[in-house]
Amino acid sequence: MEIRKVGVVGCGLMGSGIAQVASMAGFSTVVRDVSEELLQKGRGIIEKSLGKLAEKGQITAELKSSTLGRLKPSTKLDDFADCDLVIEAIIENLDRKRELFSQLDKIVKPEAIFASNTSSLSITEMMTATQRAPRFLGLHFFNPVPLMKLVEVVKTVVTDPAVVETGLDYGRKVGKTPILTSDRAGFIVNRLLVPYLLDSIRALEEGAGSIEDIDNGMKLGCNHPMGPLTLNDFVGIDTTYYIAEIMFEEFREKRFAPPPLMKRMVLAGMYGRKSGKGFYDYTDPKNPKPNKLLVG
Ligand code: CAA
Ligand code: NAD
Repeated sequence: MEIRKVGVVGCGLMGSGIAQVASMAGFSTVVRDVSEELLQKGRGIIEKSLGKLAEKGQITAELKSSTLGRLKPSTKLDDFADCDLVIEAIIENLDRKRELFSQLDKIVKPEAIFASNTSSLSITEMMTATQRAPRFLGLHFFNPVPLMKLVEVVKTVVTDPAVVETGLDYGRKVGKTPILTSDRAGFIVNRLLVPYLLDSIRALEEGAGSIEDIDNGMKLGCNHPMGPLTLNDFVGIDTTYYIAEIMFEEFREKRFAPPPLMKRMVLAGMYGRKSGKGFYDYTDPKNPKPNKLLVG
């Protein structure tokens, strides 16, 4: 099936990037969030990212403006009716995602493909909220979407092989390398990454080192682009916490259990970079300072 029009639900950290790369690749793209204010915030993220890419000469000024021109922000699900592919990127909560897919199933044309960008939830459980199980798959992008080269294409036990092919092809069209995986919590990447992110918080709790030293350890000792506590802040501590809970529930293994400090931070609204405070304080975003309140 040919994809011409793409719908993206959720215009936060991930949805904004997913909409951006769809539009950059030439797809007519509609993106939805629940309020005009959140849509404006998402559009701001997209404009900033396109600006950076244009500044560095990675895209032309024409592509920047045509990308913005192809993007239609909307608060109404009715605008998704004629989409060929709808990618969901709302909060990591199964009930909310099932409710959304059930609504979309009644609005969007039956031949359209539905995809979720979930990090850890079961694609199969979302799929059963719709009448289009063979046309349902996971398309898991990475943060920041415009820069990261990977997309995980997740098939369930009933996904139509032609739909899997369309998913792989769509990933290539938006400039990513697709890898194929099956519907198990965390797929390939988060199965390996999430225990590492959680362990870095345990290391801090246990007094193995300071926030900066833990991060520098992995940056300088293993050549990672970011230390793990910075990466927790970057992904969103709330999001990683939900992911950990879901993976713990699926595998019942201690390594996926969120550490107590992480839970306290989420309860206190310390979500990381997006809320201004996490393992670091982003009052000056260009010069984050370790959050001294967390230790000692
Ligand atoms: N769009 C366009 N350009 C961007 C951008 C964006 N969204 N974000 C950053 N950039 C640009 C910056 O402007 C900068 O450009 P210059 O080199 O011209 O200054 C360049 O990218 C590098 O950025 P920074 O100097 O700010 O920082 P950096 O060198 O650390 O690079 C990074 C940023 C690419 C994000 C890098 O730190 C990195 O790769 N970090 C790891 C990210 C990662 O692991 N992501 C996966 C998270 S897990 C996930 O996504 C799955 C899940 O389900 C949770
Ligand atoms: P986020 O909190 O930044 O954004 C979620 C957005 O969805 C918010 O703007 C919220 O208002 C909106 N939303 C909630 N319900 C909605 C609805 N019914 N319709 C439209 N919009 C709605 O979260 P995020 O980090 O972008 O994560 C989104 C999804 O992507 C989650 O499933 C997450 O697990 C996954 N993911 C996150 C990352 C990451 O690094 N943050 C990476 C890969 C995948």
